[in-house]
Amino acid sequence: MCGIIGCVGRGDETLDVLVHGLAKLEYRGYDSAGVALANGGVSVCKRAGEIDDLRDELEGNSLSGKVGIGHTRWSTHGPPTDENAHPHQDCTGDVAVVHNGIIENYQEIRDELVAEGHEFKSDTDTEVVPHLIENALADGDSPEDAIRYVVERLDGSYAIAAVVAGHEAVFVARNDSPLVLGLGDDATYLASDVPAFRDHTDKVVYLDDGEFARLDADGWEVRNLAGERVEKAVDTVTWDAEETGKSGYDHFMLKEIHEQPRALRQCLRGRVDEMAGTVDIEDLGDLSPRRVQFVACGTSYHAAMYGAQLFQRAGVPAEVYLASEYATSPPPIGDSLVVGVTQSGETADTLSALREARARGARTLAVTNTVGSTAARECDHALYIRAGPEIGVAASKTFASQLGALNLLALGTTQTDGARDAIAALRDLPGQVQALLDENDARAVAEAYQDAGAYFFIGRGLQYPVALEGALKMKEITYKHAEGFAAGELKHGPLALVTQDTPVFAVVLGDGERARKTVGNVKEVEARDAPVVAVTDGQSDVERYADHVLEVPETHPRAGAVLANVQLQLVSYYTAKLLDRSIDKPRNLAKSVTVE
Ligand code: AGP
Repeated sequence: MCGIIGCVGRGDETLDVLVHGLAKLEYRGYDSAGVALANGGVSVCKRAGEIDDLRDELEGNSLSGKVGIGHTRWSTHGPPTDENAHPHQDCTGDVAVVHNGIIENYQEIRDELVAEGHEFKSDTDTEVVPHLIENALADGDSPEDAIRYVVERLDGSYAIAAVVAGHEAVFVARNDSPLVLGLGDDATYLASDVPAFRDHTDKVVYLDDGEFARLDADGWEVRNLAGERVEKAVDTVTWDAEETGKSGYDHFMLKEIHEQPRALRQCLRGRVDEMAGTVDIEDLGDLSPRRVQFVACGTSYHAAMYGAQLFQRAGVPAEVYLASEYATSPPPIGDSLVVGVTQSGETADTLSALREARARGARTLAVTNTVGSTAARECDHALYIRAGPEIGVAASKTFASQLGALNLLALGTTQTDGARDAIAALRDLPGQVQALLDENDARAVAEAYQDAGAYFFIGRGLQYPVALEGALKMKEITYKHAEGFAAGELKHGPLALVTQDTPVFAVVLGDGERARKTVGNVKEVEARDAPVVAVTDGQSDVERYADHVLEVPETHPRAGAVLANVQLQLVSYYTAKLLDRSIDKPRNLAKSVTVE
């Protein structure tokens, strides 16, 4: 939610660096954008809309300065207007602040500041920060001390960056919102996420909660709340800047769908011994969980549902919880390993759930894509899914990689019957996904049903989370009503909604009991004139009742779920394209949801 950036040391290029970086952070929010440059004084340019709107605004604006900050917003307090866009300033105009997070006690502080005579221009929680800094500076504090004083007053989450007139420096504070420094040869950067400055450097420093940084011509330094210097590790990012571009695809989402073979290969690389039929995951130690609780949100929750089934099938009790529910209504934990599945590693609900589990004494594991993320750093263990950067707000390749990693986790920590077959299927999976991407009928299905009133998705067992994920993708990027159901549940209510205008996507793999029962459910919707799209490996007779068939190769059910999901991703993508939707930046959403 919201992306912030800062840059020191790029001279006259500063503004371009900031705007380019904001474009890379747009997946975090795209309601408004703005920049502030310090050059003796402080000048600000900001506006409602996307980064291109900010670019237009900058054309008629002679902003200059060698030190700067920027922001792209996902609205929490106040609508997406010019006034509510960041940076926010104090009464004198000497201070400008960008903020990612939520200041929970802002109203109380604002009332106090208004009573003192401060004038507010926005509805945001953020605006209290520059006014508090203004007070501290007026009392004679240095900008560093001012920021330390200010954050002591704040309850909530924040990644804050500020510029102050007369100081060629950026001042930074972090609590519960991501913030990373980028160390170039002659310049220093800060951002909510590495893609913002990856074009300029691969050397990064992840700030921790309660830390402050000063970036200036001499470089950078990090201090704690007591003002003491903190020695920080410098990490090297392992992915290239090109991975954050579209590489000729119309949308990031399509590119990322097509990156799934590579993402899966990366996920598996060096972790499976096919000859021995074993999995060896670095850094996990001897986990051998007696029971597992998964916590996650959205797409990651669907991956967690799949993961829980893998453990259950290996005889290990496993439960899956929506992180937002777990955080406020935690179940008994006992000796469970609590696994947070989170692509970003920054989802506030998931972090809360994991913290709740830790506070109750549980061991925790983050299954995440993001090295250095809060989840990875706070959990006892981290299993990286290695999907590479995902920019499209709708998760695609990270879901496939989450399923891959959860297979590794289950196979590596349990005695799973048939592990050798499962490992062989995982080995074949990237090639099968590639073949399916090369040739499929998803576009034709999208064309046939682009005008449908609603879409339903059904599946059983490992295909149930795929049905839920298919529906989530469809609603996120097409804005159409879409629901996923356990196939057996349709007749308990949702069947009332099924008409000739509601295509039903049925994921039917294999020809076992689950498949046979789902075919029965397909007959029920067919009898109500609903068009049926079967996603199938051809082993059952579901094709007899289907209007369209999306084929997947015959394989292990674990791998089949990934393949079926690719078909559904493509249908959603092409439907959204036909409807001319904002596929990479769907309305009202942001990729990394850092508020509860
Ligand atoms: C997926 O398409 C969504 N953008 C969303 O549901 C997402 O999966 C969810 O917010 C969880 O994100 P995380 O994996 O980064 O924790």
